[in-house]
Amino acid sequence: MIFTVAIDGPAAAGKGTISRAIAARFGFAHLDTGLLYRAVGAKGGDPIVAAQTLSPEDLARGDLRTLQAGQAASRVAAIPEVRAALVDFQRRFARAEGGAVLDGRDIGTVICPEAEVKLFVTASAEVRAHRRHAEVGGDYDQVLREVVERDARDAGRADAPMRAAEDAIVIDTSDMTIDAAVARAAEIVAARLG
Ligand code: DC
Repeated sequence: MIFTVAIDGPAAAGKGTISRAIAARFGFAHLDTGLLYRAVGAKGGDPIVAAQTLSPEDLARGDLRTLQAGQAASRVAAIPEVRAALVDFQRRFARAEGGAVLDGRDIGTVICPEAEVKLFVTASAEVRAHRRHAEVGGDYDQVLREVVERDARDAGRADAPMRAAEDAIVIDTSDMTIDAAVARAAEIVAARLG
């Protein structure tokens, strides 16, 4: 069975948790596509060469989840040649036998417009900054500034900007528990599976 669940949205909206839960519940493979851009940003040197030569070891680095790695990822993600180098791998993953969940910014719009389910998971910048702050600590105002800055860069770039596909279902998690958000996503996937 070929079945793709595309989950897009801004940082700290709950995409990752929802994606992992959906993959586990339905037995689908999961790809966190943000990790690809984080690994390119963290590798250093020419980001285009880094994207073209990305290896499993690059993806296994322990420092990819930091705020700095997120900002670096957002910067390299605006380079069209970096995105182009990562397209084929993501498309193959999305359409591989057995079902797949991919989370990112452009999965429903660019990587897999034919996805059977498209979700856009979002929340207010303040709620997302509070969640990030609870995870990483530091200065809340600084975390909020970084969230807003990253949103603006990811949504404002010319190539594959972050946006909801026209046929995406929006889940706003600002006032939802994570369990409720997962349940809503699972209900949508189950309905489409039939
Ligand atoms: O989801 P994340 O926070 O790990 O993503 C890090 C950055 O990578 C994000 O700010 C923009 C970029 N990204 C992207 O441009 N396209 C994707 N499909 C996933 C991430």
